[in-house]
Amino acid sequence: MQDAAPKPLHLIVACTENRVIGRGGRLPWHIAEDTAFFHTATAGQTVVLGRVCYETWPQVRSDGRHPVVISRNSALALPGVHVTPTFPSALAIADTLPGKIMICGGERIYTEALASGRPIRLHLTLIHTEITGDTFMPEWRHLSWREHSRRESADANYRYTFVELSLS
Ligand SMILES: NC(=O)c1ccc[n+]([C@@H]2O[C@H](COP(=O)([O-])OP(=O)(O)OC[C@H]3O[C@@H](n4cnc5c(N)ncnc54)[C@H](OP(=O)(O)O)[C@@H]3O)[C@@H](O)[C@H]2O)c1
Repeated sequence: MQDAAPKPLHLIVACTENRVIGRGGRLPWHIAEDTAFFHTATAGQTVVLGRVCYETWPQVRSDGRHPVVISRNSALALPGVHVTPTFPSALAIADTLPGKIMICGGERIYTEALASGRPIRLHLTLIHTEITGDTFMPEWRHLSWREHSRRESADANYRYTFVELSLS
């Protein structure tokens, strides 16, 4: 019997032109439209995230999400929250859970996901600015992406583009 095709990994990330995703354990911006997009895209799905992201998202279990947290600290587990120490073990758990596998960061998790050999879908909000930060999206622009959608938008502070790309 043939093995089933691996589930794609849906990376969801907002980053600036200089690839900043975070500063001091938080997002360095507040873009309400992007926050709403993130919540809608992850609702009802399996979300894979690092310990820092988990600690800053107390409502992760709402809206039917299935969280898989990567941490050496298994004491973080709560009902409905899986905690596991490595990215491969997180994927093994995520493969058994309902919905899409949404990779929500941070930095090491995006890096391991891009190197995983799985089909990748990138839901990127590219914020058209350069800022200082301490956490980065790994470089993605040199890879051979297929573009599925693109939408420009802006708020009072930033111009940004929602783009959906795939890599197989
Ligand atoms: N803009 C965006 O779309 C976006 C998305 C995500 C995050 N962020 C920002 O990025 C920052 C948080 O990301 P971060 O990279 O600093 O932290 P993180 O990935 O959320 O958490 C780091 C911790 O998670 C565990 N971990 C993560 N990846 C691992 C791996 N591959 N293997 C083993 N353990 C792993 C380790 O936990 P233990 O030490 O407990 O073992 C590590 O210390 C915040 O500023 C956040 O706001 C932004």
